[in-house]
Formats: sequence, structure tokens, C-alpha cells
Amino acid sequence: MAEVVAQTDRRTEGIVIKDDWPGYSLDLFNYPAHYCGDLDCVIIPHGVIMDRTERLARNIMDDLGDHDIVVLCVLKGGYQFCADLVERIKALSRNSSHTIPMRVHFIRLRSYLNDQSTKDLHILGAEDLSFLAGKNVLIVEGIVGTGKTMETLLKHVQAFRPKMIKVAGLLVKRVQHSLACVPDYVGFEIPDRFVVGYALDYNEYFRDLNHICVISESGKKKYKV
Ligand code: HPA
Ligand code: MG
Repeated sequence: MAEVVAQTDRRTEGIVIKDDWPGYSLDLFNYPAHYCGDLDCVIIPHGVIMDRTERLARNIMDDLGDHDIVVLCVLKGGYQFCADLVERIKALSRNSSHTIPMRVHFIRLRSYLNDQSTKDLHILGAEDLSFLAGKNVLIVEGIVGTGKTMETLLKHVQAFRPKMIKVAGLLVKRVQHSLACVPDYVGFEIPDRFVVGYALDYNEYFRDLNHICVISESGKKKYKV
């Protein structure tokens, strides 16, 4: 894990989406009719996510591709990114001179209620991860907000003594305070706004949206618990 201050090159910070980027109008894309009025804009279209994921897979293969990989998918928000990233890594592995054995495991975390991070992070169904000992582990996360979730998870995983741990985060939020933890592979750096879609939820809604979108104020009210 790199320190935030060491983040200088594009490859580690990902595609930077600036604070003044208005996003794409929803009228330009298809999205489920049941979310009409619940979104402000499309911030990252599905196709762009897929293209960036393809490149991340190549970077990961360049770094880890000569050893077995244990992928640890952080549920639920990371499932779509993990599935697509694993597909791309498999495709690259098929086309390389030696194929890479890859295992995929799942860990479930919960830290958000409405659009707020709660203090207590729950590792749900925390299984025995002792099989990680001596392995190269790739943690795959949909979004890194405060970085605290990732910090807690890293400590948890480190306790099982893997050989190496790398973290891939599709999105990293540009928050005011410096992040507790920054992924090694970042898809996009985004403004500090609440985003949904591509498996990222607001109280379990919006996982069935393909694009990454900014939720509207009325959307937040409608699905508040
Ligand atoms: N959207 C969904 N889940 C999240 C977010 C977000 O913007 N930030 C942290 N978890
Ligand atoms: Mg969530």
C-alpha cells in the first residue's frame, strides 16, 4: 500500500475525474426506468469502466502474473468489478505463455447506512482465511471512501500471513482528509459525492444500474431508512 503523498503518477492514481466535471446527462444513456428522478448524472459510463478494467487487469498481470493469485472480493459493492476484472485477467492468462492459477474468495463488509460511513465496520461471516498463508493476495474493492474499511480489512488479512497483498479499487474518493489507505491499482479517482451503480448501492438500491451515477437528493430521500 502506497502513502497518499507518494501518489504522483497516473498509473497509481487512475483516471482523475475533476470536481467541476458535470457528468453526462442521463438522457444520453439507457438506464432502468424505475430510477427515473433518482439520479443527477452519469459520472462513468459502463463502457469506460470496462475499458479501464481491461487495462488494470494487464497491470496486475504484469506485477503478479508469475505466481498463483488468491483474489479476495469485498462484497457486496465489489462483486461486479471483481467479476469483470477476473474475466479480463483470465483472458490475459489464456493468451500468455503460462497460465496463472487463480482462486476467488469472498469477504463481506458493511459500514454504510444511508450515505454515511458508520463507525463500526462489520466483517460479516468472517471465515477462517488461514489458506492465505504464503499466497499472493489481490483484494478487490468497488470503492474506497475514507480508507478506514480497507485499513481494517488489511489488518485482518495480514494476520493470516500472506506472502504479498495488493489492493485493486475501482473508485477512490478524493476526500478532504488524507486517506487511511490507498489501493495499488485504482480505476478512477472521483469527487467526494455519493455514487451508485455497477454494484455500488444506497441502502441496497441501485446495484442493478450499469453506469456509475451520482444519486439525486430526491433519490436519497426516497430510499432513506
Ligand atoms: N457509494 C456507494 N457506496 C459507498 C460510497 C459511495 O459513494 N462511498 C463509500 N461507500
Ligand atoms: Mg454499500
